[in-house]
Amino acid sequence: MSTTAAPRAVEIYNLVKEYPNPYGDDFRVVENFNLNIQEGEFISLIGHSGCGKSTVLTMLAGLNEISDGGIIVGRKEIDSPGPDRAVVFQSPCLMPWLNAFQNVMLGVKNVYPHATKAERKQIVEHSLSVVGLADAMKKYPRELSGGMQQRVGIARAIALQPKVLLLDEPFGRLDSLTRMELQDVILDILAREKLTALIVTHDVDEAVFMADRCVMMSNGPLAGVGEILEIDFPRPRNRVEIFQDPKFFEYREHLLAFLEQRAHLKTGSRTFSNGNTMGYTDQKGADLAAAVATLASSVA
Ligand SMILES: Nc1ncnc2c1ncn2[C@@H]1O[C@H](COP(=O)(O)OP(=O)(O)OP(=O)(O)O)[C@@H](O)[C@H]1O
Ligand SMILES: [Mg+2]
Repeated sequence: MSTTAAPRAVEIYNLVKEYPNPYGDDFRVVENFNLNIQEGEFISLIGHSGCGKSTVLTMLAGLNEISDGGIIVGRKEIDSPGPDRAVVFQSPCLMPWLNAFQNVMLGVKNVYPHATKAERKQIVEHSLSVVGLADAMKKYPRELSGGMQQRVGIARAIALQPKVLLLDEPFGRLDSLTRMELQDVILDILAREKLTALIVTHDVDEAVFMADRCVMMSNGPLAGVGEILEIDFPRPRNRVEIFQDPKFFEYREHLLAFLEQRAHLKTGSRTFSNGNTMGYTDQKGADLAAAVATLASSVA
């Protein structure tokens, strides 16, 4: 897609997240995270486990307090959840005593209190049909497979008619066939409803296949945007064609190289000339160890 003309749907500027630490200074997980997302754009966010991906996503959802910096969605600074942003988590967390229709209706009632009963019913039925559950609306979670439950989770999110769809490893617990089916469901919905989306994923193929840009996060603490890779495939995307395209392998290699390089930076140790060793767990630690080693050799 063109990345020049579309207006901004989301602006994240100088975002900081500190979690309280009972033993000392607050734990600064994210620092100076900056990202603009254009309307209709699909961003994938990848990075090592624990770097702060979910932290950024939940701040964008308004579910996690922002320590510093800010997030603007649709020209409005956000500080709480809103129906303009819907989230799909790894586990759909459905109410076991409600069927699929009722689970989706729960959110719709909250967001559209003034809609008529018939209008709400239409929204719920449309959302469940879009995810392929037209024939399973009356089924309870215990009667649905894991993939079907996640379809209900997606229907629940799109029933709110959000501007931005946030997905935190939504297919992480599903087998690869179901995962591919649901990737296509999401891509169809985004194309039809013209939504903006951000997906957190550990799956490099998924990140490339789905997104317009892959945002690679540096390792925490103090994690930010490490690199951004533009994915130049037309939409609608054809899985078979893309997976055979040499560009796909280039993109994939690029992401893997970034992750691999960060994995090396994440943990390591430096042995000095006097035999002492200094361990480190992130880039800053690696820099510090290198500086100490230089100092030690200049003193020796
Ligand atoms: N509520 C919290 N209180 C304190 N620390 C937290 C809290 N939530 C997350 N953290 C810490 O913040 C860091 C980032 O966590 P986060 O869940 O955002 O990582 P992630 O990149 O989503 O990891 P994963 O890929 O494993 O899901 C971790 O070190 C985690 O322990
Ligand atoms: Mg996470």
